[in-house]
Amino acid sequence: MAKKSHKAAAERIALLKRELEVHNRNYYVLNAPTISDFEYDLLMQELQGLEAMFPDLATQDSPTQHVGSDLAQAFEQVAHKYPMMSLGNTYSLEELYEFNDRIAKATEQPWSFSCELKFDGTAICLTYRDGKLLRALTRGDGTKGDDVTRNVVNIPAIPRELHQAPGGAPIPQEFEIRGEIYMPFEAFERLNEERADRGEIPFANPRNAAAGSLKLQNPEEMASRGLDCVLYHFITDDNPFRTHIEAIEAAHSWGLPVSQFSRRADSIEEAMEYIKAWDTKRKELPFATDGIVIKVNELDLQRQLGFTAKSPRWATAYKFKPESALTPLLSIDYQVGRTGAVTPVANLEPVPLSGTIVKRASLHNKDQMDLLDIHIGDWVYVEKGGEIIPKITAVELSKRPENAPLPHFPEVCPDCGTPLVRDSEQARHYCPNSDNCPEQIKGRFIHFVSRKAMDILAGDATVEQLYSNGLIRELPDLYTIPPMMLLNLEGWQQKSVENFLDSLEKSKTVPFERVLYALGIRHIGETTAKAVASHFGSMDALMNASREELLQVPDIGGIMADAILEWSKNEKHRNMVARLKAIGLRFEIDESSRQKLSDSLEGCTVVVSGNFSISREEMKRLIEAHGGKCTGSVSGSTTWLLAGEKAGPEKLKKAEKLGIKVISEDDFRRLTAPGTESETEKDLFSNI
Ligand code: IVH
Repeated sequence: MAKKSHKAAAERIALLKRELEVHNRNYYVLNAPTISDFEYDLLMQELQGLEAMFPDLATQDSPTQHVGSDLAQAFEQVAHKYPMMSLGNTYSLEELYEFNDRIAKATEQPWSFSCELKFDGTAICLTYRDGKLLRALTRGDGTKGDDVTRNVVNIPAIPRELHQAPGGAPIPQEFEIRGEIYMPFEAFERLNEERADRGEIPFANPRNAAAGSLKLQNPEEMASRGLDCVLYHFITDDNPFRTHIEAIEAAHSWGLPVSQFSRRADSIEEAMEYIKAWDTKRKELPFATDGIVIKVNELDLQRQLGFTAKSPRWATAYKFKPESALTPLLSIDYQVGRTGAVTPVANLEPVPLSGTIVKRASLHNKDQMDLLDIHIGDWVYVEKGGEIIPKITAVELSKRPENAPLPHFPEVCPDCGTPLVRDSEQARHYCPNSDNCPEQIKGRFIHFVSRKAMDILAGDATVEQLYSNGLIRELPDLYTIPPMMLLNLEGWQQKSVENFLDSLEKSKTVPFERVLYALGIRHIGETTAKAVASHFGSMDALMNASREELLQVPDIGGIMADAILEWSKNEKHRNMVARLKAIGLRFEIDESSRQKLSDSLEGCTVVVSGNFSISREEMKRLIEAHGGKCTGSVSGSTTWLLAGEKAGPEKLKKAEKLGIKVISEDDFRRLTAPGTESETEKDLFSNI
């Protein structure tokens, strides 16, 4: 770094402080970071460097001196008994040797390290008293945290009560154990699919999803999010253990979840080998990690080394640089979704990245484009990380072609030309012309016919064809297309017309809750539709409900209630519902149509994976019709994993690990065959 003048350094420090505070808020409070960890760490390192060079400019309020704060209004804040610090981190192996040298200077004795995965979730501090979970606090600002006990008790991995193992270490009367709450990839993908279904913005990565879920006001919803936990730091007043590893092994013996991947290393070289091995192996893990933590194992040496203002001197994190690729940006498309949100999507020169070829990457919104100062023709860095859709994280300015044009975020809808409006809360641009914008109309049909909704035999291409031939504009139009018109369309034959008409006919038996979901009301996904349908019983009751009445439905918050109110007061929607009703669609809960086939699966929770003789959606409905419950991921509370052909290997592995029975479709059919006594069958199946 070239030596800066005092004035230039003061200006740069002020700017870096402001920037870092903004990113702290995005990360800790909003759970929606706009830059990668790597970029954040670079800013932080620059600030640390400048403060070291100009000590008179280093102030107490600098982000280098305190950890970011995740404190939220809705939870009670409780002071941490021991401050909750962060860890020093580095991206350079060289600096790990320096870390080792600093320890060597402090002691004459030999020491060892505990090498551990750095789990990418949100930090948690659990207190156990008399063997029972007393309290769970988030990191907060490091000195006080949010009390999230009521949510944490719903995470199956966290025991409310501990058990003394025979001959094992005694459980201290009171102690703290800290760790990470994280969301495995599978649960993360499921959650994001649901959010996309509801027209909500997906979480950027599993870490934000975990942090956001932990702060939910509704513990039941939180329980459905599939969170997991790993604990890695034991603290108590009179620590009875000699080493960190002994303490963690004891915690494990009491029933607490700890990492099975930690290893002791007797030298920094051995620690390096651990790092090298996990740099590749970590890609096979079913959860996100962002580095390796190396801790001095001997607790007396830990005490001797102590802490800096922000982090311990006895531990450090080596962070993996996210895999990224550099490639030219060819153009930007502006896509209109069914809810009208306009998303900029970058078209890239195809480039290999973590095993796939990346051609497109999301740019999220206009703010993100401005922040990157992206130009067409720029060489851009693309990252995958935990995200499903790759994203552009930075621009390589040294490669910017001369006269590279700035992209122009449209002021009008790229599809229908209506001026866009900006939703400042979500930093998104919307096309307000929901009635006539072709992309939105087509999006609504694609959603309406989808399997989880009306299950009508029509793919995206068919919807496009019917739309461009002027045959569909409003949802009821689907049911009134003359068959002759269909026969005249390219690619349609007698058989395909019949199949299509059959599926339309069948859709008239689809229960009310799915019809409600199919209407595509903003923020109303599958689960909410079920809750609303069973609460109100009919579309009429729902459309006439007041805000207060809507808010009485469990799981319905203000945003959802407002979305329903706005949808219902629109005259066009009311007419559409009347037309669909006249066609014969179900707009009332029909208790008998709940198709209760038996009680044979009463109290059973089944996870469905792979292909069966019927579609997965039909299989789930069948399970529910037999009184069972379906969930997306295997956990301690799963009764069976129903595995068809090509069942997910991760689910099978998890089931094996947790000792959950895996059953086939044949087993399932036997289990639900008429005349089966559920208890006897359940016993029978316990031997499969
Ligand atoms: S030890 C005094 N061990 O990474 C600090 N932290 O970036 C004790 N983390 O604050 C922390 N995996 O939230 C430790 N195996 C591990 C970890 C770990 C993830 C998190 C933790 C920490 C952050 C630092």
